[in-house]
Amino acid sequence: MKNTRFFGKLGSLILGLGFVPLNQASVVEAEAAFENLMPVPQEVKIGQGEFRVGKEFGISIGADASSRLLSASSRFLRRLDGRTGLFLQQDYVEAGEAHEAPGLEIATERAGEVVLGEDESYRLDISAEGIRLAASTDLGAMHGMETLLQLLNADDKGYYFPVSKINDAPRFPWRGLMIDSARHFMPLDMIKRNLDGMAAVKLNVLHWHLTEDQGFRAEVKSFPRLHEMGSDGMFYTQDQMREIVVYAAERGIRVYPEFDVPGHATAWLVGHPEMASMPGPYEIERGWGIFDPTLDPTNERVYEILEAVFTEMAAIFPDEYFHIGGDENEGHHWDASEHIQAFMKERGIADNHALQSHFNKRILKVLTKLDKKMIGWDEILQPDMPTNIMIHSWRGRDAMVAAAKDGYTSILSNGYYIDLMQPASDHYLVDPLPSDIELDAEQRKRVFGGEATMWSEHVTNETVDSRIWPRTAAIAERLWSAEEINDVEDMYRRLDTISIQLEELGLTHIRNREMMMRRLVGGYDVKALRTLADVVEPLKIYRRNSDLSYRSFSPYTLLPDIAVADAKDARKFNTLVDGFLKTKHKADEAAIRLMLERWVDNHVAFEQITEGAPALREALLLSKALKELSEVALASLNGKEVEADAVLTRAREPVAKVELQVVDAVERILTR
Ligand code: ACM
Repeated sequence: MKNTRFFGKLGSLILGLGFVPLNQASVVEAEAAFENLMPVPQEVKIGQGEFRVGKEFGISIGADASSRLLSASSRFLRRLDGRTGLFLQQDYVEAGEAHEAPGLEIATERAGEVVLGEDESYRLDISAEGIRLAASTDLGAMHGMETLLQLLNADDKGYYFPVSKINDAPRFPWRGLMIDSARHFMPLDMIKRNLDGMAAVKLNVLHWHLTEDQGFRAEVKSFPRLHEMGSDGMFYTQDQMREIVVYAAERGIRVYPEFDVPGHATAWLVGHPEMASMPGPYEIERGWGIFDPTLDPTNERVYEILEAVFTEMAAIFPDEYFHIGGDENEGHHWDASEHIQAFMKERGIADNHALQSHFNKRILKVLTKLDKKMIGWDEILQPDMPTNIMIHSWRGRDAMVAAAKDGYTSILSNGYYIDLMQPASDHYLVDPLPSDIELDAEQRKRVFGGEATMWSEHVTNETVDSRIWPRTAAIAERLWSAEEINDVEDMYRRLDTISIQLEELGLTHIRNREMMMRRLVGGYDVKALRTLADVVEPLKIYRRNSDLSYRSFSPYTLLPDIAVADAKDARKFNTLVDGFLKTKHKADEAAIRLMLERWVDNHVAFEQITEGAPALREALLLSKALKELSEVALASLNGKEVEADAVLTRAREPVAKVELQVVDAVERILTR
């Protein structure tokens, strides 16, 4: 059998076995129809032939179908129609509808509950005569519809679904995205369109980070000064939060809130300075980093307000989990406070960790009374904490492993920090439970999955989608698909397709870049800027703000905001260079030369656009560095000896908060 790409590693893929026998040529052809699946299903049996989609296509569904499934079915039809342009005749799908023409028949046993561990499995059976989607719950059926949409193929005869049987279920029950709405406020539409994106890649948890030093984003009726004074007027009303919970549940997605305490809490203190460890007044924090203002764990007023807030929020968010943050409390204000030090001495509380545990145990009581399970960042893992809390591992995998060994449940975010602008491949290869992990079967069961984290220091509503997508689709696959599905190049190939499909849901990750470039250039011709933007990436990890130049009100509209992780042309160039150095193929060399020549020529064009765009002038150095780099690479390809050390050094220098991503590849050309 020819290279079967991702399926090759999936033992459960059965080609033609007990199904439809295939010859070699049709195997290859049939496989191509499955190349865009993401996440890869657990089991795919490829058959022969197609189900052709025409305008008579429609959905039949049981009389007891949930209203959620009916809405999802209608949305499926509109997306299918949007892609095929067939003018499908069926309008809204109704319960008990028996569509006359061949199409999709959906059978479910019950409406699923949007809770951890619900059955999300589904089975798809596509034959030339019709498609059957069966699932225990409507949640599973909705996943099946997403898979089906990814299976839409086209040829010279039109659109079709390939004959196949798919049996699928998630590897992990907790597959999340955390959105930080606190540092930069995110409008309701941002949350909704990203929930749609999450559903498309089978994520099932939105972790909503609602409070920070820089903002308190939830309306609290009992203590309105919290949001009134802590949010600059940018907060979610209780009705809006409920609206998000409903919108998410309609897509099979749980929503649970995070109220980060006792650190990261400056915004609470603006309206309620009496909650603080040190006397106020306090102002909303405008910078980024770790700050000292901290809730006072010795003050009953703190617990009174927390209980009121948690009680209101517990009624809005029905999920059984409630995140209390707990991260990065350095305890400086605790150290500096005489009454807190006296409190610790009196009770024999040895250090700040123990004091935080004292605080955590108090709020655990509140949450338990509200029927909530407490989850917190891994700092809350302390020897005296009871094991009925969940540990959210972010500083390393160690906390997750330690938690599982000590009897705690946990989820992993270490390795899934998409705000750090690392390549998708880095995240993709982080497995919560690799087969060689040192945990026994019982301990493994306590690792529920993971979450991508979209911290929002350096994103706004305009740029945030381009940080979440498409990389989060790679993380979604890690959390859904088998461990053996780990071919990086194949992941990238599929990511390109998924990225375009995600746009159909209103996500702005591709289109906003063009808009931002037009605005910066002050015109429609953005070619020279795009050429540069496609080979640079924003500074990674925490280097972007190492000089503390950014504040919450800074412009996030410039080159590092247009640039994305996995810079498109850089990746293409680097792949070409790798191939060329191995094989010395002339075609690769020609393609490399074309790119290098384009980068040389681009500098003059870039100089021209910056004449009318002073905001871009800082990047001139970068454009020049790219030109010089390309010139030495071309000279080397032409057989000339080149002295390039200074050029390489300049090209490695970050400029305007971005860095060129083609320097290593050029160095490999020079030293080949
Ligand atoms: C965190 O990133 N401080 C949880």
